[in-house]
Amino acid sequence: MYLAFSVLVFSLLGSGHGSVIPTEACIRTLYVSDTALIDVAEHENCILQIDTDQNHILRFSLAHGEHFERAQEFVSIYDGIDEDSPIIRLENQIRHKVGLTHAELIDSVYTTNSVAHLRLKKKPTLSLKLKIEKAVYCPFNLGSESQCGRVVDANSCYCATFTKRDQANQTTYCIDNGMKLLSIQDLNEEEKLYAAWDTLVYFWTSASYNTTSGAWRWESTMENIYPGYTNWAPFEPNNTLNDGDCMAMKNGWYDDPCVNLYDAICELQPEDVPSSTTPSYYTNSDPAFTSFSTFSSQD
Ligand SMILES: *[C@@H]1O[C@H](CO)[C@@H](O)[C@H](O)[C@H]1NC(C)=O
Ligand SMILES: *[C@@H]1O[C@H](CO)[C@@H](O)[C@H](O)[C@H]1NC(C)=O
Ligand SMILES: *[C@@H]1O[C@H](CO)[C@@H](O)[C@H](O)[C@H]1NC(C)=O
Repeated sequence: MYLAFSVLVFSLLGSGHGSVIPTEACIRTLYVSDTALIDVAEHENCILQIDTDQNHILRFSLAHGEHFERAQEFVSIYDGIDEDSPIIRLENQIRHKVGLTHAELIDSVYTTNSVAHLRLKKKPTLSLKLKIEKAVYCPFNLGSESQCGRVVDANSCYCATFTKRDQANQTTYCIDNGMKLLSIQDLNEEEKLYAAWDTLVYFWTSASYNTTSGAWRWESTMENIYPGYTNWAPFEPNNTLNDGDCMAMKNGWYDDPCVNLYDAICELQPEDVPSSTTPSYYTNSDPAFTSFSTFSSQD
């Protein structure tokens, strides 16, 4: 505990730019494994450093789904660990052209890296609980003829490419961009993708048919499609005798030759990128200070 604290102080002071840490301040580090809830009022006069693993970013929202403006009145969130790092404000957040119908997206802010720090500006009179979750970074696009958005939920990212390639090359395209060719989990996900992009053109997914085993599989996750969610169009699949059949979606699923040239959708889920298995924890300079927070790993 002492060691962790020393390292933190060193890194804060060592980050330079003349930022002064008030000597009376308590310094606490919160490592977010998945989700954490914190009560803002309990951090008065403290600097709270929030970390997640380096492959993820952090998303802040209010625990009860209130508008994030309420939080900005009481707490400043810095994108980084020293005072000179920019303050993250709702109005400066990336607004994706797709996925905006999601009310919760507007009610949260995202960091650009895996560290943030929090300072209380004013003690809230009513309880103010911040929800902190790890998320993946989501750019506007992956270059020309593509578009990204937090289309399905607030912590993942999807990118559509409107350059037609065969299925193997779309797989490579997604991997080259640090993502995976789409695997569809359920109807909700599929419907949100159609709502964001299109139901009139084919998009390659990662599914393909193995003629030896006779099994359809999501190649990106190596999971067999059966038993599980399916959404074949009427009379599909109808061509599985051909070796190397792949699956494209267009308001339903179609098996088509993998060499066909189609658009594609890449995805990145928080669990797709390597992360530490360390559970959420606090370190702080005050050993008496252990009971102020509540965690939940799933909600
Ligand atoms: C697929 O990628 C290979 C290797 O980069 C390239 O030679 C080929 O032209 C590409 N095919 C399509 C259809 O884009
Ligand atoms: C197809 O299935 C067979 C039998 O299960 C397996 O040996 C082979 O590796 C599979 N091929 C691919 C490309 O996954
Ligand atoms: C499979 O169905 C599609 C239309 O859903 C059709 O265009 C295609 O020719 C059919 N393939 C075979 C082998 O019947």
